[in-house]
Amino acid sequence: MNEKDRYILGIETSCDETAAAIIKNGSEIVANVVASQIDSHKRFGGVVPEIASRHHVENVTVVLEEVMQKAGMNFEDLSAIAVTEGPGLVGALLIGVNAAKALAFAHNLPLIGVHHIAGHIYANQLITELKFPLLALVVSGGHTELVYMKEHGSFEVIGETLDDAAGEAYDKVARTLNLPYPGGPHIDRLAHEGEPTIDLPRAWLDDSYNFSFSGLKSAVINTLHNASQRGETIEPQNLAASFQASVVDVLVTKTVRAQEELNVKQILLAGGVAANKGLRTALEDAFSTKDDVELVIPPLSLCTDNAAMIAAYGDILYQKKKFGQLDMNGNPGLELK
Ligand code: KG4
Ligand code: ZN
Repeated sequence: MNEKDRYILGIETSCDETAAAIIKNGSEIVANVVASQIDSHKRFGGVVPEIASRHHVENVTVVLEEVMQKAGMNFEDLSAIAVTEGPGLVGALLIGVNAAKALAFAHNLPLIGVHHIAGHIYANQLITELKFPLLALVVSGGHTELVYMKEHGSFEVIGETLDDAAGEAYDKVARTLNLPYPGGPHIDRLAHEGEPTIDLPRAWLDDSYNFSFSGLKSAVINTLHNASQRGETIEPQNLAASFQASVVDVLVTKTVRAQEELNVKQILLAGGVAANKGLRTALEDAFSTKDDVELVIPPLSLCTDNAAMIAAYGDILYQKKKFGQLDMNGNPGLELK
């Protein structure tokens, strides 16, 4: 091992994945372990915070042991420990934060608190070098944001959702269609089997880069109710395709407009909804003819929650010497800045 190399251990427990990863020099995955709890939450149709915390307690040491073993490393080989400090479920965040604090204290390593969304954006650094200024389209279960970055560690939110996040809308529509949790991948699959035959609204919100998905969600629910009252049936595939067409249209149109206005060098896609095939294809189509901007889309495994992305951004904070203290707490309302 070269003395100059940086090895950051990342820990992520903000929602329903217990994850740990080791990243070399901010971009190379040495080991990456994700223990998903999705099966435990499925029967409740969503994440149950108390159950999530309990699973994190059970899994966190196992996941940490596994990642060290896979990497073939000891704690003494690490440069620092980065952990998701927020936002997320407070009881879930606390498990990761306390594990990170205990390890940092025991092995005398710097502790780094990472914003979950900064992590999602930096998943892209595991694919390619980031080029500034850039624009990140963040679409997850809790967030829908357009983030402008002029340099590493600088996040300017130029647009965000005024109500539901894109993933939240996907999960709620899926629930209405009696599809299992998390609904996003199921709607995505159905959408490809149907046609967007139903006219659903798109919230353009004038010239702003903000988003709104609750009206669309209500329109889907109303369409289903009205049809059942009239004794008609609606093909779920067509409803899924129409819903997805509306979400993707708004996301892609606003991203293209922001890119043209801000002249960015890269567009990064980030967050769980980045796994959406319709969105990936529409973005690829929209940017395929533009040779002045590079579109970066991470593989599916780096779109949904993981700790590799937390360590990737942790490496930036490590180089900037932005360390946390041992009184760090889980912060559900942590701001991206
Ligand atoms: O980023 P993530 O793993 O967790 C949060 O930080 O929220 O995102 C989870 C969200 C869920 O709402 C899930 O339904 C959605 O990402 N998702 C998808 C797809 N895969 C995951 N949404 C649409 N299409 C997909 N293929
Ligand atoms: Zn996430």
